[in-house]
Order: sequence, then structure tokens, then C-alpha cells
Amino acid sequence: MKILILGDVMGSSGRKAVKNNLSKLIKDETIDFTVINGENAADDGKGITKSISDEFFQLGVDVITSGNHIYDKKETNDYIDQENRLLRPANFVETSPGKGFGIYPTKDNRFKVGVINLMGNVFMKKTDDVFVTAKKIKNKIRLKDNADFIVIDFHGEITSEKMAIGHFFDGLSTGVVGTHTHVPTADTRILEKGTAYQTDIGMCGDYNSVIGMNKENSIKKFFKDKSATNHFPAVGEASLSGIIIEADHKTGLANKVTRVIEGGTLRK
Ligand SMILES: [Fe+2]
Repeated sequence: MKILILGDVMGSSGRKAVKNNLSKLIKDETIDFTVINGENAADDGKGITKSISDEFFQLGVDVITSGNHIYDKKETNDYIDQENRLLRPANFVETSPGKGFGIYPTKDNRFKVGVINLMGNVFMKKTDDVFVTAKKIKNKIRLKDNADFIVIDFHGEITSEKMAIGHFFDGLSTGVVGTHTHVPTADTRILEKGTAYQTDIGMCGDYNSVIGMNKENSIKKFFKDKSATNHFPAVGEASLSGIIIEADHKTGLANKVTRVIEGGTLRK
């Protein structure tokens, strides 16, 4: 079983890289299940539209995860309840549209994959305590009981929360990845009890930028230059960034984890 997880798709250049490379990557690597974080996929880098979600599904994505920008496009509030494959963080208040985890069949119907979306508490917008939510979900989706494989997208700003969640789900999930910072970390590994882990899997976007945003404008903003405008995405060639987890179908745990970095200015 091979699971591909790609980091935050950033604006039109990120979408273009996904469009140009995803199907080939799925075919060449014989990927069975694909998860992508789509919360920055709209042209302005904020939120996702229904047509963008549909395009990702057509390209082979099985589940789209998200984070703090999930409701930035008004239409999301309406369609997220109808689209089982688009997740928002599970620790949003319970009345929030959409849901934070689900169990999905692989395309060949051989396996069930649980996907859990969480969001950090530190330096993020206010949500329920992510560790309390994680504890509850741990009892709802059990590896080999409810799902053959379980992957977790922890959308957060700080590394320590991500690592703590990684260790919390070690042996209980196939993989835990971080998203949101848009910069991939070099700590890709399999934890002690068999869970694949990377603190942040980076973005699918133009790295000749400030975390995906136009660098000149971003620098101006930091220098409080009055001519700076609102942040807008960089539109140069994007790099695809994420990981591939090879997992054992008997245990649901990881045998191998490999970083994926393709195209654009980012190098392995
Ligand atoms: Fe985010």
C-alpha cells in the first residue's frame, strides 16, 4: 500500500504543478491513495472553491485536507457538508460546517483509509484544544479495527505540537504529517512504533517567494513600506512537495517513507 500526501497547494502555480504532475506521479509510483492539503489552492492563496476541489478529485486525489483558510471562500460553507472528501480540522467547534475525519475506500476497494485533519493551537486561530480532540478521535478510529490505514494532517505553526501529535499517534496510525508552514522539514522518518512522520511536508507552490507569496511585496510589508499591498501568491514554477508512505497491509504501519520534491526551485 502506497499513500501519497502532498502539502498545501498554493494558488494558481501550485494547482498547475498538481495538474501537470500528479497523474504521472500516481502512475509511476503506483500510488493507491492520495491526500492533498488544499486550503490555499484558490487564486489568491486563501481557501478553495468547489471547482478546484472537483479538479483535484478528477486528477486522482482521494481526500483534501485543510486548515485555517478552509472557509475563506464563502461557497465552501455550503458545499463542504455535501462533499465527504473535503475535510476541515476536527478541533473546530462542533457546529462548524464539514467534518474533521473520515474513512474512505481505496479506488480498488481493497482497503479503508482513515484520514484525520487537526489544527494546532499555538499561533493559530482559536479552536478547541487539539490534544483533547486527538484523544477523542484516537478512540473513534482504530487502526485495523475501523480502518486499514490512518493518516493525519496536523495543520500548525509550531514544530513541538506537531512532534507531540506524531508521538501520540505512533503505532496507532500509518503516518502523521505537518502542514501550514509551507517549508518542508528534513526529519522524514518512521517513529519507534511504526508511524511515518515529517514535521512539515512543505507546500506545492513557488518557492521563489515568502512562503508562497510574492517576495517583493512581502519584504515591503515587513519593512512597513506604504506601497505594499495585501499578500498575493508568487506565480513562478511550483515545486510539488510531500511524502510517500509504503505501509504494511497487515499492520497498517509504515515500512518506508520517502520525501517527494519535484519541479520548480526546490531541491532534495
Ligand atoms: Fe494554513
